[in-house]
Amino acid sequence: MSVEHTVAQHYSHGALADTILGALRAMGKDPERLTASDLAPVDEFHIGGREATIEVAAQMDVSRGMRLLDIGSGLGGAARYFAGEHGCRVVGIDLTDEYVRVANDLARRTGLAESATYRQGSALDLPFEDAAFDGAYMLHVGMNIEDKATLFAGVRRVLKPSGVFAVYDVMRGDDGDLSFPVPWAATAASSFLCPPADYRSLLETAGFEIVAMRNRRDFAIELFHRLRARTAQAGGPPPLGLHLVMGADFPAKMANMVRDLQRGVIAPTEIICRAI
Ligand SMILES: C[S@@+](CC[C@H](N)C(=O)[O-])C[C@H]1O[C@@H](n2cnc3c(N)ncnc32)[C@H](O)[C@@H]1O
Repeated sequence: MSVEHTVAQHYSHGALADTILGALRAMGKDPERLTASDLAPVDEFHIGGREATIEVAAQMDVSRGMRLLDIGSGLGGAARYFAGEHGCRVVGIDLTDEYVRVANDLARRTGLAESATYRQGSALDLPFEDAAFDGAYMLHVGMNIEDKATLFAGVRRVLKPSGVFAVYDVMRGDDGDLSFPVPWAATAASSFLCPPADYRSLLETAGFEIVAMRNRRDFAIELFHRLRARTAQAGGPPPLGLHLVMGADFPAKMANMVRDLQRGVIAPTEIICRAI
């Protein structure tokens, strides 16, 4: 089986739309009239969720009408945030067919179907014209992609000169074996973490200038403390959360990731760069 097939299978759930809409109904929400905030606990599949997206967006200098590419758009929450809050027109691309279907459905239910659209495809073979986008971002996707040189060359190709590209990925920290499963992979066969310095040189080789880099480890550790305290206080997870997306081994995936974060073996890192 190809790595891309394994990755799409890892993320596929089978009944995600029903699961999410069922939880929303149980919370008293009308699934036909949702807001982006209603969905934020479940549709942003990266450390820090909406809070982290807002911080990435603040460094991207986005403005109304900008055309953005979301690489590995998942359930589409970040694209709906850029569309709804910043007036951008966002196209998401993702390997996992079920995520693409749910993302388009949630965009319709939030009234954002015109400005946030999603299609199935590979980040390694972007089906867009040269210089089609003003900016691009990629949130927690590079962990599944070994050939980052091809990935970044493709992103550079579809960006206009000076176009911004924001990356927020789980990267390799100190030496040490990772424990599996983690939220992005069941085994090491589809996990391709590399250190921030490798991202930097691969991005530069692809034609980007690095504007900023930030290690988000402290933010992540503090966030997981907060989540643990909230879960303990409530006696369980909230009705709507990423546990619905990650499935039965959610506790193991989270425990492994948090342990490796604390050991310093993984380092969630942001990189903001511009096409030269
Ligand atoms: C951890 S999720 C993050 C989703 C989204 N960026 C977010 O932050 O909510 C990783 C996503 O990357 C997608 N992905 C992984 N490898 C990919 C590839 N080669 N091309 C396109 N999408 C990919 C997966 O299908 C999955 O939806």
